[in-house]
Amino acid sequence: MPKVIELAPSVLSANFAQLAVDARAALDGGGTVLHLDIMDGHFVPNITIGPPVIASLRKSLPGVTFDCHLMIENPDQLIPAFAEAGANWISVHQEACVHLDRSLHLIESHGCKPGVVINPATPVEALSEVLEIVHHVLVMSVNPGFGGQQFIPNSLNKMAALAKIRKARRLSFRIEVDGGVSHDTVADVVRAGAELLVAGNAVFGHGDIRQNAKKLLQAARSASLTRT
Ligand code: DX5
Ligand code: ZN
Repeated sequence: MPKVIELAPSVLSANFAQLAVDARAALDGGGTVLHLDIMDGHFVPNITIGPPVIASLRKSLPGVTFDCHLMIENPDQLIPAFAEAGANWISVHQEACVHLDRSLHLIESHGCKPGVVINPATPVEALSEVLEIVHHVLVMSVNPGFGGQQFIPNSLNKMAALAKIRKARRLSFRIEVDGGVSHDTVADVVRAGAELLVAGNAVFGHGDIRQNAKKLLQAARSASLTRT
């Protein structure tokens, strides 16, 4: 059964002085989920935004699904604040959570959809015990911290493995990919099994944001038609 392909523009590569304007352009181009990268300068070597910025964006974009990707240490401390600010989905890194099951239930208890993320060096097997309770699994196809990096091909095997496990165990989590998704890689990630496509540089990096989103989504949907 083919899954619906969705584009999740990552505003990490947008103009931060006009985030809502750039985000709206990407949504007008067909993006249906807004991907928000939260970095703390510890778990990853970069710092981005926190709950106040999410709350401001929420006022400008009231009906949009906010997918908050937490690249932070001790995420449990801030999950309530992100939920309060307007997050709909919150994902935490397997590598950052000592008590991953607890963190995922904490997200759910605040009315958000829980997701789990794995870095390129983390195997899919590390998620075996939480696949039943997550709404989405995010496969990092670059090492997290920066936009515009090169796609790591081995991540395709991980998406395919997750799709296989999902089928075998009759689960329903969605498969998301983040990092280096562009015109060159989008067909491969869709064929490997990804349905939620995060794209930063390919959407916001250059040219017309709306057109970039539209073309990327078109390429993804064409590839999904040839997926087995
Ligand atoms: C990287 C972030 C990504 C980033 C992807 O750590 O998690 O969401 O914005 O950017 P691109 O699509 O430019 O690789
Ligand atoms: Zn991300």
